[in-house]
Amino acid sequence: MEISYLSHSCFKIVTNDLHIIFDPFISPNESATSIKVDDLKADYIFLSHAHADHIADVEKIYASNQATLVSNWEIITWYQNKKNYDRVHPMNHGGKWKFDFGTVKMVNAVHSSSFPDGTYGGNPAGFVFESEGITFYYAGDTALSYDMQLIKEDYSIDFAFMPIGDNFTMDIGDALKAAEFVGTSKIIAMHFDTFPYIKIDHEKAKKLAFESKKELLLLNIGEKINL
Ligand code: NI
Ligand code: MN
Repeated sequence: MEISYLSHSCFKIVTNDLHIIFDPFISPNESATSIKVDDLKADYIFLSHAHADHIADVEKIYASNQATLVSNWEIITWYQNKKNYDRVHPMNHGGKWKFDFGTVKMVNAVHSSSFPDGTYGGNPAGFVFESEGITFYYAGDTALSYDMQLIKEDYSIDFAFMPIGDNFTMDIGDALKAAEFVGTSKIIAMHFDTFPYIKIDHEKAKKLAFESKKELLLLNIGEKINL
C-alpha cells in the first residue's frame, strides 16, 4: 500500500490499484505548492467532516477524475444539492461498506462539522479501512475518546493517521494514548504545522513517541512511503 502525504490531513493511498484521497486541502497551503492538484489521480475522495481545511480541493479533484465522494449523509447531500454530484456514497457512523478496494467502517470522532458557509455538516467521523490484508484507522479531526477502544475490540490496526497539532484536536500526548486505545504502535501524524495554532515541536513529539514505544511518522509534504 503506497501512502503519499499531500498536506495537512490530506493523504493519497494507492491500494489494489485504486487511488484514494483523504480530506483534500492542498491549494490553500503555501507549504504544499509542490503538489499539483490538477494532476492528482483519484478513484475515491473520503471526507471526515465539512471544515474548510478538509474539503478545499474536493471540487478540483472531483472534476478532473471519475472519483466517487464518500462521507456522511449531510455532506454527501450538500454536494448532491449544491454541486449536482452524482458519483457519491453516503455513510453514517457505525456503518460499513464493501468497496471495490476493500471494506470501510465509519467510526466516531469528537469534533464539529460545518461547511464554510455555515451549513450543518453532520457529525465528524473517522474511518477504519481493510484492504490488501492491511487494516488502518484514519482518525479525522478528533479529541481523544474511549470510543477508540471499540476499534481495538474489532480490528487489529496496523497503523493510524492521527491529528497531533493540539488546539483543534488531540496533541501528541493524546495521540499516543489513542494509539494505545486502538491497538497500534505506528502513527502517521497529520493536522500539524499548517497554521500558527497547530505548530508543533517535532523533536519533543518524537521524544514522547519514543518514550511510549510508538513509531511516529512525521512525513514531509510530497513524501511517499510503502506500508
Ligand atoms: Ni475540523
Ligand atoms: Mn481541521
